[in-house]
Amino acid sequence: MILTVTLNASIDKLYLLDRAVPETVMRVREVHNTSGGKGLNVSRVAQKLGEPVTAMGFTGGFNGQYLESMLASTGVSPRFTHVSAETRSCINCWDLSNDRSTEYLEPGAPVSPEEVEQFLRDFDAQLPMADAVSISGSVPAGVPAGLYARLIERCKVLNKPVILDTSGKLLTESVSAGPTLVKPNEDEIGSLLGDKPCDEMSRAAALKHLNNQGIRYAVLSLGADGAMIAFDGECWHGRPPRIQPRNTVGCGDSMVAGFAVGLARNMGILDAFRMALAVSAASAMSLLTGDFSTEDYERLLPQTELKRI
Ligand SMILES: Nc1ncnc2c1ncn2[C@@H]1O[C@H](COP(=O)(O)OP(=O)(O)OP(=O)(O)O)[C@@H](O)[C@H]1O
Ligand SMILES: [Mg+2]
Repeated sequence: MILTVTLNASIDKLYLLDRAVPETVMRVREVHNTSGGKGLNVSRVAQKLGEPVTAMGFTGGFNGQYLESMLASTGVSPRFTHVSAETRSCINCWDLSNDRSTEYLEPGAPVSPEEVEQFLRDFDAQLPMADAVSISGSVPAGVPAGLYARLIERCKVLNKPVILDTSGKLLTESVSAGPTLVKPNEDEIGSLLGDKPCDEMSRAAALKHLNNQGIRYAVLSLGADGAMIAFDGECWHGRPPRIQPRNTVGCGDSMVAGFAVGLARNMGILDAFRMALAVSAASAMSLLTGDFSTEDYERLLPQTELKRI
């Protein structure tokens, strides 16, 4: 079982508009509601790859119940810590005339110290059953600094592989706990190391630097250019075939899901890398975030190319 952590979950509403015109009343052509938050994208993709997933984090109120029922309908087991505040909503208005989107992200209400303590107890109860753990995204107000590092330390005590995918200050303060795998994109590695590496050699050096800091597998995702991975003194560049992307938001989450499945199944890391490349490229071809077509994935898998640097 893969355990995912999404502390800042939301109901994500995708509004498809024929044309977005500011300062007018617009009728929405289609609405798609999904359980949102980066860790929930990871959860749905890992579950669709055939691995059982238990999703943890905070949910509250009717929105929280709705989120859990949507998640359960995809096969994921929700094991959230229930909080007093209502789960937030995030709205993505998609203009079909030019394929541009505008997002409105609610801040979400703070969680209390007691709710954080309850989450830690709930996490400790689930952790022994996990084959891999994935921690993603931002945290709501009220979560104390260093919580991700504490979760990573608990995983290491029980010898559970743990993936961390977050950004900014949260990433900086949590990498020192030594997660098994991190997957920054170019901006995230730039803010983590103070300098954005711009060519293959400097990217490989940046990843090896992360290995030296105690991160076994350091992955850098490069959008349509695929991704690089460094481990045990080796560095590889993996490329998916050229595809027609439809929605690349959340492709990084799909990549994390591929790695989580690989680690949970104890696969060789390069096989896991191939799976992560194929499923993230398949996810770029899907309109819905945190989704992919199995047919696309199976077609892309043998077409991914790995090159040792
Ligand atoms: N246009 C594309 N064509 C093929 N594969 C893509 C494309 N965009 C993304 N991918 C795949 O998805 C992976 C992750 O994408 P990206 O680097 O954009 O992640 P990210 O910035 O973390 O995204 P997010 O945080 O929104 O999930 C890439 O390494 C690649 O394998
Ligand atoms: Mg990302």
